[in-house]
Amino acid sequence: MRILFLVHDFNSLGQRLHAELAADGHDLSVEFDIRDSVTEEAVASFAPDVVLAPFLKRAIPASIWTKRLCLVVHPGIVGDRGPSALDWAVQQGEIEWGVTVLQANGEIDAGDIWASRRFPMRAASKASLYRREVGDAALACVREALARVDAWRHGCWRPIPLAVAGGRGRLRPLMRQVDRHIDWRLDDTATVLAKLRAGDGFPGVADRLFGETCHLYDAHPGPPDIAGEPGACVARREGAILRRTVDGSVWIGHVRRKDSDVPIKRPATEAFAAQAALLPERPAALVRDHDDHGELRYEESADGSVGFLSFAFYNGAMGSEQCHRLEAAIAQVAARPTRVLVFTGGPDFWSNGIHLNRIEAAESAADESWRNIVAMDDVCAAIINLSDRLTVAALRGSAAAGGCFLALAADQVWAHPGVVLNPHYRNMGNLYGSEYWTYLLPRRLGPDRARQLAGGRLPLTAAGAAEIGLIDACFGSGADDFEDRMRARALGLAAAGDLAACVQAKAARRAADEAAKPLAAYRDEELAQMHRNFYGFDPSYHVARYRFVHKIPPSWTPRHLARHRQPGWRPVAGSAP
Ligand code: COA
Repeated sequence: MRILFLVHDFNSLGQRLHAELAADGHDLSVEFDIRDSVTEEAVASFAPDVVLAPFLKRAIPASIWTKRLCLVVHPGIVGDRGPSALDWAVQQGEIEWGVTVLQANGEIDAGDIWASRRFPMRAASKASLYRREVGDAALACVREALARVDAWRHGCWRPIPLAVAGGRGRLRPLMRQVDRHIDWRLDDTATVLAKLRAGDGFPGVADRLFGETCHLYDAHPGPPDIAGEPGACVARREGAILRRTVDGSVWIGHVRRKDSDVPIKRPATEAFAAQAALLPERPAALVRDHDDHGELRYEESADGSVGFLSFAFYNGAMGSEQCHRLEAAIAQVAARPTRVLVFTGGPDFWSNGIHLNRIEAAESAADESWRNIVAMDDVCAAIINLSDRLTVAALRGSAAAGGCFLALAADQVWAHPGVVLNPHYRNMGNLYGSEYWTYLLPRRLGPDRARQLAGGRLPLTAAGAAEIGLIDACFGSGADDFEDRMRARALGLAAAGDLAACVQAKAARRAADEAAKPLAAYRDEELAQMHRNFYGFDPSYHVARYRFVHKIPPSWTPRHLARHRQPGWRPVAGSAP
């Protein structure tokens, strides 16, 4: 089928559906919802069988839905309507939620129902649920709906009108900040966490810290036995601030100070640097209880053969200091007598490369970009040079740009089918990229394919990545299943009879590669290009980063997504309205 994605932005869900439907053999193009006339032009040019709207903030114009089949993905159960579907579900503690695919009509979210799915809710942020459970359910719904299009066209199947479908969902308004308000003298920890998770990653919860207005994000349960007044800030750890509740405490990882010079989301201890410096530090040991919040964590299998190092950096963004801490952790765990070391990233993202928000907030964006990429390269080098054991990058969440190449630094890369990979940098203002990608990518794909992939700028499913050899394995039915199987697989690797031979072969290959061209040479060449990106005359990277960090809506659809706008595009005759 020819499918036009109509999107507010090409977000995680759009990317995942795009990559999956492309793999299913559909003919796809994308148009950003900028203006009705532009959408009309795109529909006329691409002549799609279906217009698919996985993430829209406005209604599809009647000039489109009266002429073409338009399917809208709504992140809510049957009957649920409104722009804050997931926010309400998280805040009100729903134990089960869902996704519905409806046919667009004159009323938002009120069209006939083509497919729906339900899933159990998890104690996680809205953004995390959206990326994982909503993504899985939406993909199943969209595939089911597309499979029905032919039958619908021939009058053999009809979608179910909302009034007939019933369901306990209902129309709910946009959630406002008054609905999200935290009363620190009354709300218990569970309520505070529910409110903060419902607003994460957007729009956050409006509040005050140290007497200043700000929005709060990235909340985690803190220790229960904390002294102090409810609402008081009592300690700091990494970028987070510990805040007392009536019956315990919560860690607040990120804040946005709207009235400050840098009104963007930042680690709480950076946004309130002077105030946070006065708080006592509660350092996090690398090995600690599972419910004790912190970015880095290490554990070993019961037999001590496998080490698991996780780095749950918020949004997968890795600032200079975070890279330094990760590098130090790698050195620390490399001293352990494990045979396999697994890098498990974070639960939502494995890594998204350098920390664009912290760079934006720095006094000199160019200097901080440089510091950050050098620190990222050091982490990559530390992984590449671990020559006495096997290393695995186990992707529990998606990876992009430098984060993707960081994964390739490991000997093996494993992921589950929900993971999306963006193994390219050019979307960020034609950034050249480093992280030894010029060594790591051709090593896996060969030079031609590597060039093609880097220039293609498109997302890839984990299954697709495994098929072309970018990663080694894609398995598991979802994130939880992947986690269990990944651990078993790593243990199997450590117990394999040929492990010593594999480690030897790996060391020999590294030595041969080093002799052919030293790692330092790859790094120097890449960094010379990056220096030009950061300090040169062309400001594209700085402009793209500014727009990304400040979330400036796109004013056109990038050519690599809008196939119908590419030179030479001709619509193929025969699509059915
Ligand atoms: N630095 C800082 N923040 C980042 C980030 C980065 N490298 N990558 C992602 N984020 C943030 C986004 O700003 C967003 O923040 P929010 O919580 O305030 O909304 C959040 O992570 C999720 O990103 P979003 O773009 O909404 O998610 P997505 O799943 O739709 O897209 C990516 C994921 C990775 C494709 C997209 O975020 C991206 O292109 N990131 C930049 C990658 C990059 O160029 N890195 C630098 C070069 S190494």
